[in-house]
Amino acid sequence: MDSALDNYILEHAGNTPEVLKWLEGETVKRAGHHSKMLAGPVLGRFLAEFSKLVAPKKILEIGTFTGYSAICLAQGLTNDGSLDALERDDRHISLIKEAFERAGLSSKINLHFGDAKELITKMKGVYDIVFIDANKREYCTYYNLVFDLVKPGGYILADNVLWYGKVAEETPSNDAQTQEILKFNRMVKDDRRVSGFILPLRDGLYIIKKL
Ligand SMILES: C[S@@+](CC[C@H](N)C(=O)[O-])C[C@H]1O[C@@H](n2cnc3c(N)ncnc32)[C@H](O)[C@@H]1O
Repeated sequence: MDSALDNYILEHAGNTPEVLKWLEGETVKRAGHHSKMLAGPVLGRFLAEFSKLVAPKKILEIGTFTGYSAICLAQGLTNDGSLDALERDDRHISLIKEAFERAGLSSKINLHFGDAKELITKMKGVYDIVFIDANKREYCTYYNLVFDLVKPGGYILADNVLWYGKVAEETPSNDAQTQEILKFNRMVKDDRRVSGFILPLRDGLYIIKKL
């Protein structure tokens, strides 16, 4: 999507909270070129509005980075709701904590550092929304590990499932990430326990509803 359309969409979305503008700037300063991993305002506004529609009591995020999408998703939580954020890399811990504090979400977001594949098995509870946004080579594993933790009628959202358009190339690249995303998309399509749709938003967001 070109930036003129992005700007137009953003002009018609709810205001981006100041804390997210601050967090994006700090992430660029501290994480350099890695900052492109952050969801950003267009996907971020969508995640916030989607979460408000669902009004989840519990959200699980797999891949938190500096906390941008966690803050967006948390905007829809019920008053007594909470979000479990799983992240392998603790190098941005002070930034994440400051962002959650500034967003007034410190008491609602539980940060768990470690490998999501292990952490998921320790999570208790039934989630209304799971957001998958960690290692692209592990999407099938996350999906299978998390599936039973999702409430019937709940959602799994998976980011980057169009993988820069590589999934639709005539001869898709053989690299591990492209192959795993292709496998993941096929697996979801063939899974009779869910229905889903790939929203061509930014790099593709699979919205998967557990039946
Ligand atoms: C694309 S970034 C997440 C961006 C974040 N959701 C946002 O919108 O700001 C992916 C993150 O997943 C983390 N990650 C990768 N593999 C992981 C794993 N096995 N367990 C936990 N986190 C992982 C990376 O350290 C990175 O911070």
